[in-house]
Amino acid sequence: MLERSEPEVLLVGGTANRGRVLRIGDTVRRPLRPTSPATHALLGHLGAVGFTGAPRFLGVDEQGREVLSYLPGTAITPPYPAWALTAEALASVAHLLRDYHRAVSSFDPAPHAWPPSPPAPFAGGLVSHNDVNLDNVVFREGRAVALIDFDLASPASRVWDVACAARLWTPLRPDRHIDDARRGQVLARFRLFVDSYGLPDADRDDLVTAVRHNHEWSYDIVGTAAANGHAGFSDYLDGGARERAERVREWYLETADVLREALR
Ligand SMILES: Nc1ncnc2c1ncn2[C@@H]1O[C@H](COP(=O)(O)OP(=O)(O)OP(=O)(O)O)[C@@H](O)[C@H]1O
Ligand SMILES: [Mg+2]
Repeated sequence: MLERSEPEVLLVGGTANRGRVLRIGDTVRRPLRPTSPATHALLGHLGAVGFTGAPRFLGVDEQGREVLSYLPGTAITPPYPAWALTAEALASVAHLLRDYHRAVSSFDPAPHAWPPSPPAPFAGGLVSHNDVNLDNVVFREGRAVALIDFDLASPASRVWDVACAARLWTPLRPDRHIDDARRGQVLARFRLFVDSYGLPDADRDDLVTAVRHNHEWSYDIVGTAAANGHAGFSDYLDGGARERAERVREWYLETADVLREALR
């Protein structure tokens, strides 16, 4: 698996493991976590059912790092290229998430110890990815082909995962916080994401509620990590994210009805 002559290349884009994700040949090395056995079982299942939209778990190396397959392509990092902000790119992320949920639906999470699940009523159902951020999706030729970084995956509902992905990819925030081609497109992009995923009408009101809870949940994870000394997340919060989160929180409450209407 490891050719000693192959160079270690730092992979950038993430924050949680900033500086600790490396590529060696066609493998990726990442730190292990207490919940890694669960994540590895999940990746094993995805490989066994023939789902190609996730890395394969290949083992643990001599330095105690997880070894995953490297997925060729591009993960989106700022400044975002125009092709990543198109309707086609957005719909392809929704299709990938739908396909992931189909593949994971036959996986039993019960025997494993997972990272925290979201609050009721969004806990359980299947193992949701929980972090479909822009830099956690690999694209090829303008289309999303794989999810990476399953560190936060845990038992939760489809609605929860769709809420998380739609929130980040639309993005669901006030227009004044959007300075690229997605400005003015929020409601149309939200609808496109949800329609492309194929979320049943009956789940759509809950989805808007889940978006607000998902925003809180994600910021709690970041805030807790920062409070425990995580430099990457501290930098992120100190760089204006704390204030932005407060504005977005208010915006969710003000626009909940508008968001619901956009999905009818
Ligand atoms: N299996 C893979 N195949 C291809 N590229 C990868 C793979 N794993 C990671 N990368 C690249 O490395 C970057 C950082 O990886 P990763 O998302 O695992 O880091 P992280 O710090 O845990 O991220 P986050 O802050 O989202 O939790 C990704 O954005 C992607 O560009
Ligand atoms: Mg990441």
